[in-house]
Amino acid sequence: MAAREEVIGDARLILGDCREVMAAMPADSVEMIWTDPPYGHSNHDDDFNSRLNAHRGLADAPIANDDPESMREVMDGMLTEASRVLRRDCCCCCCCCCGGGGPRPTFAWVANRMDAAGLQFFHSVIWDKVNPGLGWRYRRQHEMVMVAHRTGGRLLWADDKRARPNIIKTSPPRERVHPNEKPLALVAEFIELHSSPGHTVLDPFMGSGTTGVACANLGRRFIGIELHEPYFDVACRRIEAAYKQPRLFAEPTSKPEQYEVRYLPFGEDAGADEAIQPLGGHHGHHARLAIKQ
Ligand SMILES: C[S@@+](CC[C@H](N)C(=O)[O-])C[C@H]1O[C@@H](n2cnc3c(N)ncnc32)[C@H](O)[C@@H]1O
Repeated sequence: MAAREEVIGDARLILGDCREVMAAMPADSVEMIWTDPPYGHSNHDDDFNSRLNAHRGLADAPIANDDPESMREVMDGMLTEASRVLRRDCCCCCCCCCGGGGPRPTFAWVANRMDAAGLQFFHSVIWDKVNPGLGWRYRRQHEMVMVAHRTGGRLLWADDKRARPNIIKTSPPRERVHPNEKPLALVAEFIELHSSPGHTVLDPFMGSGTTGVACANLGRRFIGIELHEPYFDVACRRIEAAYKQPRLFAEPTSKPEQYEVRYLPFGEDAGADEAIQPLGGHHGHHARLAIKQ
């Protein structure tokens, strides 16, 4: 199961298969999952990127479980365990490719699987990478993050007075230690939106430990799982360095627009400076929000 385990500050890092490691975790034990699983594209498996890296003399290896069938298997297993280890009011964020122009998209599949695995899909957020990538006709400039919570629970949202647009604009990291490394500002933004200091964040596909670095900087407990030992070692080093320089984290590059929002109790009028927004569907017929202008 766990081939190795390291504890660094408030971070617990486990080398192993996330399905087995999560199966041994207690139920209702984490507030948030933020993860960036294999996309099912066989990336870095003798593709353009791996040949480019070889040309530059950079180490490159196929990502584990990144063929379409294995990706679906590990994601199904991870999501099923996620609905057990997450608390009732919680958040599960899962990165997905935008799709098109080559590999098949996975965002719709992930949203469906979330629903089937005991989670409730809530929203898709766009990560705008600022500059377009390679491609023919449409060049890819975004990825998606699917956001869910446990069925029957509520989405964990740290500050009820805050709302933000569902597009987060930040560039990919310039220097990477993992071929799929996510920008720290992107991960940190989600963690701040969906958790509070002292909460536990789990990343079952930790890679180089970006989520753990964000948690160290933001005062969250972290559990990270990674299958591939060289990436696990990189994650240990990065998280250790983050704990040595705990407050060097820069503010997220995209400052979200802020609204003051409150639930309007039934029968109460909004203030003169508030606009009313009715909430339909599962919020109930009479639920309304008052938004400060
Ligand atoms: C897309 S990468 C994550 C990159 C990470 N977000 C970062 O910033 O470095 C996905 C990672 O999941 C790992 N992985 C694949 N299958 C796994 C499994 N069953 N359990 C744990 N980790 C796994 C891969 O080795 C890879 O490092």
